Amino acid sequence: MIRYRNVTKRYGALTAVEDLSLEITRGEFFGLLGPNGAGKTTIMRMTAALTAPTAGSIEIGGERLRRDRPGIKRKFGVVPQYSNLEGELSARQNLEFHGRLYGMPRRLRQERIRELLEFAELSGRSSEAAKNFSGGMQRRLMILKALMHSPQLLLLDEPTVGLDPAARRKIWDLLRNLNRGGLTIFLTTHYMEEAQNLCGRVALIDRGKLVRLGTVGEIVAEQGRYVRETFQAGHAEQCFFDRWEEAAQADLSPGEFRVREANLEDAFIRLTSRGLGD
Ligand SMILES: Nc1ncnc2c1ncn2[C@@H]1O[C@H](COP(=O)(O)OP(=O)(O)OP(=O)(O)O)[C@@H](O)[C@H]1O
Ligand SMILES: [Mg+2]
Repeated sequence: MIRYRNVTKRYGALTAVEDLSLEITRGEFFGLLGPNGAGKTTIMRMTAALTAPTAGSIEIGGERLRRDRPGIKRKFGVVPQYSNLEGELSARQNLEFHGRLYGMPRRLRQERIRELLEFAELSGRSSEAAKNFSGGMQRRLMILKALMHSPQLLLLDEPTVGLDPAARRKIWDLLRNLNRGGLTIFLTTHYMEEAQNLCGRVALIDRGKLVRLGTVGEIVAEQGRYVRETFQAGHAEQCFFDRWEEAAQADLSPGEFRVREANLEDAFIRLTSRGLGD
């Protein structure tokens, strides 16, 4: 569905994305995970044809992205990192506007708006100005806007940043349902919990480079399934083990260490010596 071939993006002396080669297949729920400044938004913006790579190429559905071929934009919907809603317009008008931009006939627009608002449980508030919506509702509306023209691929840049746990779960449910219905989803996040909950495969990136690619389970298991954390002399240390028994075998008193299952964040720290941050 998306193929990156040796994609590099430079801003002057800064290399934001370096030699990225990656393929995302149809129907996948794929996550791009990395800390602030890793290059996530740059990759998203190149995928959405908002900015061109300095080198390399990107194909979507077998067609090479080119800015002089805007037709390809119908294949995907984009949920950017920052709001793209018209605050003064109602939820319905925001969707209406997007539908017109994509040349959808009136009957189809109306049908699609009704269906989408219902799907995201926003039907009751459809006439209210978008700026009066809560953060979670605005984010849901942004997703609906991206879906308005029925794309095959949904691109989301940090779809749940700043939302409370309940609003986040609501978006997760929405995205899961869409993916089950056959939509290919590609999202960026710096929440490992989000990637762990949603994504089949993830790519870990750090400073513009692909660090690891695989399922969450594979990436974690590769580093060791269990973590032993020791707290001694005011300093904490992590060690990785494949088996619980090995991890628990320490010459320490119970208060000085604990053993738990490793997660994606542990693996990321081990691979990069850096956390995902917030
Ligand atoms: N238009 C631009 N001009 C110059 N540098 C840029 C531009 N856009 C991004 N960068 C730089 O490229 C690097 C990657 O930025 P990017 O926004 O892709 O990171 P990110 O992973 O999305 O970070 P965040 O988690 O904070 O959203 C950063 O060092 C950033 O400062
Ligand atoms: Mg970003």
